Amino acid sequence: APLRMRNTFGIAARAPLLAEVADAAALPELLHRPEFAAQPPLLLGGGSNLLFVGDPTVPMVALTGHQLRYDDAGDGRVRVRAEAGANWHGFVMETLARGLGGLENLALIPGTVGAAPIQNIGAYGVEVREFVHAVEAYEPASGRIHRFDADACAFAYRDSLFKRERDRYIVTAVEFELPRADAGHAPKLDYAGIGDELAAMGTDVPTARDVAEAVIAIRRRKLPDPAVAGNAGSFFKNPIVAAGQAEALRREHPRLPVYPVAPFPADAAGHGDTPQGGFCKLSAAWLIDACGWKGHRDGDAGIAASHALVLVNHGNASGEQLLDLARRIAGSVSGRFGVALEPEPRIVGAQW
Ligand code: EPU
Repeated sequence: APLRMRNTFGIAARAPLLAEVADAAALPELLHRPEFAAQPPLLLGGGSNLLFVGDPTVPMVALTGHQLRYDDAGDGRVRVRAEAGANWHGFVMETLARGLGGLENLALIPGTVGAAPIQNIGAYGVEVREFVHAVEAYEPASGRIHRFDADACAFAYRDSLFKRERDRYIVTAVEFELPRADAGHAPKLDYAGIGDELAAMGTDVPTARDVAEAVIAIRRRKLPDPAVAGNAGSFFKNPIVAAGQAEALRREHPRLPVYPVAPFPADAAGHGDTPQGGFCKLSAAWLIDACGWKGHRDGDAGIAASHALVLVNHGNASGEQLLDLARRIAGSVSGRFGVALEPEPRIVGAQW
């Protein structure tokens, strides 16, 4: 099956087999068929967080169910259950149109609802974990659908149980708990650019829908449209380092953006013991920009001119070419700043 239209990088890879499944209840039967039973299939969502390096060798499954169910939860809150195949941005706009707040800062993120909790998508001061009530996931090994409450999902920055155990679970539906926009929901405006954007829009008492409009405008300006130039959003995670290292870097590079990170339990995010002073998150874009990569181009593999964190396929770049460029970028950041960058998208067919 051709995958070019199924990954936002626009890599012209081919899968040996691809099954579209509208009803998650059909998964057990499907995965028992010999062509799927031999090896765990790769779950394909919107293809917006994937880099195919060569042709994948495993079969693929795409969940297409996208039904929504709304249940009043009392207290000015509503539970919304969405099947994994729903388009994320469409879902966000639908909840806003229904008068529900919470997801406005996450407007225009490409991909599906089912993928959202896997890497705990986040933007403009909000992470999806804040509104996830439960995640339903099928476990092929046991043949059962499990329901994980938010704590059991072990969310962290761009991470969750489902990302750490990626071949063990298939997310089939997500249940959100959202506040009614008119029941005292205060949109989050602390990300600097949002305030500026709202002011430019002439909005002084912003509603959740205004914030979504502001976020959409910022994203359209800063992030290349995958329909125009293939990309997977941020290619690297913002690195989390010991506070002491962040301070030392800041002394040498006063303009480096550094954000404090809420303390998290050891292990949960794969870090060992918490060092004295805790952890800080650094801006990967700034580090890459400082190494001069912004707008760089090798053939069709490049870095966006509008954002140093976004790798771009200008036409016919291969996964290998993009991966090679990403490795050189990480190498130069590590050489100059002593900071290791890690890719954010899933790389299929190669090890980072
Ligand atoms: N910056 C530069 N050069 C650039 C771009 C940014 O120096 O080319 C510096 C600026 O100082 C800027 C800072 O980096 O203030 C942060 O940039 P930005 O606000 O664009 O956010 P980011 O940290 O680069 C993260 C997420 C994005 C999300 C934005 C907004 C990650 C890996 N990325 O990017 O998420 O939209 O914040 O909240 O955490 C994604 O995950 O695919 C994604 C696009």
